[in-house]
Formats: sequence, structure tokens, C-alpha cells
Amino acid sequence: DARKPLIAGNWKENPCTVQEAEALASEVAEATKQAGDVGVVVIPPYPFLVPVQNAASGALMIGGQNCYFEEKGAYTGAVSTAMLSSVGCTYVLCGHSERRTVFRNDDNAINRKLRAVLDHNMMPILCIGESKEEYDAGLNKAVCAIQLSKDLKGVTGEEMKRIVVAYEPVWAIGTGLTATPEIAQSVHDYIRGYLAKMYSREVADEVIIQYGGSVTPDSVDALMAMPDIDGALVGGASLDGAKFGRIINYK
Ligand code: G3H
Repeated sequence: DARKPLIAGNWKENPCTVQEAEALASEVAEATKQAGDVGVVVIPPYPFLVPVQNAASGALMIGGQNCYFEEKGAYTGAVSTAMLSSVGCTYVLCGHSERRTVFRNDDNAINRKLRAVLDHNMMPILCIGESKEEYDAGLNKAVCAIQLSKDLKGVTGEEMKRIVVAYEPVWAIGTGLTATPEIAQSVHDYIRGYLAKMYSREVADEVIIQYGGSVTPDSVDALMAMPDIDGALVGGASLDGAKFGRIINYK
């Protein structure tokens, strides 16, 4: 198929200094030289976006971990999509589970942020996924469907082709519990089917769907071998240059 794999490293609130961020970016940039036809994006904290971009000398794309939907004004602490675009971001995470829970972002805010990202010609990475309780209750697909329908409100089919969906079961994030390739594939297949119903089969077949949740060098190959897993959103392992280098060089 025509979907080009996309691997993203979400650094979350790491590392502590710009020097460490530059060193990690150089190491990852070096590792892309052996990689196949895969897009690689690193998503550092805001203050490190420009230094990371420079340290990577064009080998990596950069993305924002969050944004605010108002373009500018008296919103202390906020960073707009105009600002992220102006420093060269290609992607912006929308609705990461840590934003949904720790920072109480609701689906309406996520929808407005995603809209702002599209309007500034960047690509949203929309994160969805169920909690442990929801998984245990057999609600994983239902939760994804509700999040997709609310977070994508007003998005056209043409716009949908620019949106990356990241399926991140919350119980797998930072826990070492990766979803099995079979579980992940079954949810990815469901998500693509749901997008086909919302839009069309043609649109759904173009959407990159990443898996996220404790992806490591040991789990990446089997995940990427699945037909509807088009990439990975990596947290912890993206902070280790050697590990992330192996992940982007998946087999
Ligand atoms: O955005 C990345 C995800 O939250 C996954 O994090 O790889 O540390 O489990 P993790």
C-alpha cells in the first residue's frame, strides 16, 4: 500500500538540558542514515525545538507535544500552532492521554486544537485509546469510536488524509505492557473501518495509524509487520539514542 511508515519519539518532559537534547537529536539523526523508507519525527519540549532541529541538520522532522487553539493573546503559558509552524514543526500531538488526564483536556478542546493544527498546514497526530478499566470491560473499540467521532468533528475527508491517528492503550503507556501485535492489529483494523464509515474507504486507506505504548527494540518488528500498523509513537525508548535508532531501523 501507499502508506509511508512514520515513527515518532515523544520525549515528554525530558531531558533536563538543551545540551542533552542536542546530543540525543544528533544520535537519532545519525541512526536515520541506515533506516529504510520511514519518516522520523522527534517531539521534544518546546524550548528544545529549534536546537533539536539544528542538531539534526535536516535528517529529522520535529513536532510539538501540545498547542493552544487561540493564535495569540493574553493566555499565559500557551503556545499556538502559528508559533509551532513558524519554528518548523511538521506534526503536533493532539489528545495525548497525559494531556487528557493530567491536564484535563476534553474532546472539545482536542477538536479545536486539531482544527488549529490543520489550519496552520501541519499534521495532527491524534492520540486515542482506552484505560485499563475500559479494556477489562471489553470497551477498547467503543472508546476509540467515541474519541474519533468527537475529536474529528467538522474534519473533511481531504483533511483526514493529513491526520495521523495514534492508538495508545493507556494501560500500555510507560508500563512495559505492550499490546500484543494481534490485539493492536485488531483495534487498528477497527479504527480504519470506523474511518471508512465516517469518510470513505479511499480516505481510510490513506490514514497512517501508529501504535503507541511501551514500544521497544524487542517489540517493534512484530508490531510493524501487521498490515494496519503504519508506525509507532514511542515514549520511554525514544530517550535512548541506541534504542530509538534500532526502532527506526525495524525489520
Ligand atoms: O507518546 C508516547 C506514548 O505515551 C508511549 O509512551 O513508550 O513510554 O510507553 P511509552
